[in-house]
Amino acid sequence: MIPQHAAAGRRVRVIAFAVAGVLVAGLGTTAALAATGAFSAGRVETITTPRPTPSVTEPEVTPTPTPTGPYREGLALTPPMGWNSWNYLRCNDLSEAAVRSAADAIVSRGLASAGYDYIVVDDCWQAGRDANGVLIADPARFPSGMKALGDYLHSKGLKFGIYAVPGTVTCANYWDKYPVRGIGSLGYEALDAQTFADWGVDFLKYDFCRAEINDGLVEQAAFTLMEQELVKTGRDIVLSISEYGESQPWTWAPGIANMWRTSHDLHPNWKSLADHINAEAGLSQYARPGAWNDPDMLQLANGLGPNENITQMAMWCMLAAPLFIGTDPATLDQAHVDLLTNPELLAIDQDPLGRQGDRLRDADGIQVWGRQLSDGSYAVAFWNTSYSNLSSSVTLAELGLSGTFTVRDAVNRVDLGTTADVVGSPVVGAHGTALLRLDPVG
Ligand code: GAL
Repeated sequence: MIPQHAAAGRRVRVIAFAVAGVLVAGLGTTAALAATGAFSAGRVETITTPRPTPSVTEPEVTPTPTPTGPYREGLALTPPMGWNSWNYLRCNDLSEAAVRSAADAIVSRGLASAGYDYIVVDDCWQAGRDANGVLIADPARFPSGMKALGDYLHSKGLKFGIYAVPGTVTCANYWDKYPVRGIGSLGYEALDAQTFADWGVDFLKYDFCRAEINDGLVEQAAFTLMEQELVKTGRDIVLSISEYGESQPWTWAPGIANMWRTSHDLHPNWKSLADHINAEAGLSQYARPGAWNDPDMLQLANGLGPNENITQMAMWCMLAAPLFIGTDPATLDQAHVDLLTNPELLAIDQDPLGRQGDRLRDADGIQVWGRQLSDGSYAVAFWNTSYSNLSSSVTLAELGLSGTFTVRDAVNRVDLGTTADVVGSPVVGAHGTALLRLDPVG
C-alpha cells in the first residue's frame, strides 16, 4: 500500500517558492562538492575522525538483531515533549536561523520550563555525504553546522533532535521533491548513529518512507538495527520511529523504540484529528514508560477550531502521547501558550504510571475515555464528536471506581464539587473535550 500521508492537506507557505530557488542552487553546489570529495568533513562539521566508506551495495537482509529492551525503556520514562520543525516549516523553510529562533521562543515563552525541551530538526536539513560518507548539513541553510546547533540548544537547557530514514529515500525526497540523494541511512547505520552522537543528538526521528517498496526493508529489522547502533555510540538517544502504523508497530516496537507513530500524518482539520484519536482506541495495553503510542505531532494553532485545539491537547494528554509543538512559538498567541502549558493537563500526560487512556463509551455524540493515574486519582474525558454543544455523565461504577472523589475540570482549572456516584461533564462545545480529574477523598 502506498502511503498517502504526506500529500494532501498540508499547509504550504507562500514564501516557500522564493526560498526553494535559493536552496536548489545551493544544493547543486553542495552535491557537486560532495561528489568530487572536495567537501571536507572538517570544513562543514567538526568531525575529525576519518571513517571508512561503508558499502551501500548490500541491502539489509532481514537481520535479526536483539533489541536492548530494558535500556531502551529506561529512556523517555514520560512521553517526550518538544518542538518539531515539520508542521511549521515543512521542507523549504527549514534553516538554522528558523530553528534557533523557535528554540529561543520555546524558552522565552515558558514552553521549555513547562517541559517542551526537545527541538527536533525534521527532514530537509541534509545536503549529502562527504568523502568519508559522513552526513553533512546543507551549509547554506545550516551555516554553523549541526554540532554548533546542538551546542546552542544544549546551552539553553534544550535537547537536540534530528531526522533520518532507514532506506535510501527520505519522505521529502519523495513527497516534496527534495532533490538531494544519498542521504538515507541504509548501509550507513553505524556511521550515522555515531555522527549523530558526535553532534550531541538526543533524539532521532527515524522515518520509514516507503523503504519496504524502495529498498525491500522490513520495518522491525530496520528499526532494530538503528536502535542497536545508537546504543553502541554510548550516548542516550531517544528513538522515535514512524511507519504510520502499517505494520502494527505497537505489537513489536516496545523495547526497540521509545515512541512509534500509530497512523499517517495528522493534518489540521477535524476529520484527521478525529481519525487519529479513534485509531488509538484499543492500543493502551502497548504503552508504558519508555514506550509510547504516537498519534503524531500537535497541529494545535495550525488551523483547527478553538474547541478542536482543546480536544487535541486534552486527548493527547489522555493518550499519554508525546507532545511536539508544530507551529511558530514566537507568534503563538497567549491563549495557545496557556493551553500548551496548562499544568493540570500536562500532569496527566506526564503521569509517571504511564497508563494510556481507554475509550469506555462511544454514544450519542460523546466519547468517554478514562485513564488511571499514579496517585490513585483518575482522569476522565468527554470528547464531543458532534456539531452541537452537549453534556454527558458517567458513573463511578462505569469507570471501575468506588468511593468519594473530588472533581476538577483540568482544562478550565475549576473545582466541580465531589461525587460518590455520577460524574457529570460541563457543557462541552462542538468538537471540544472536557477533561476531569477525580481525586479520592480521604
Ligand atoms: C513524513 C512524516 C512527517 C515528516 C515528513 C518529512 O513521513 O510522517 O512527520 O517527518 O515525513 O518528510
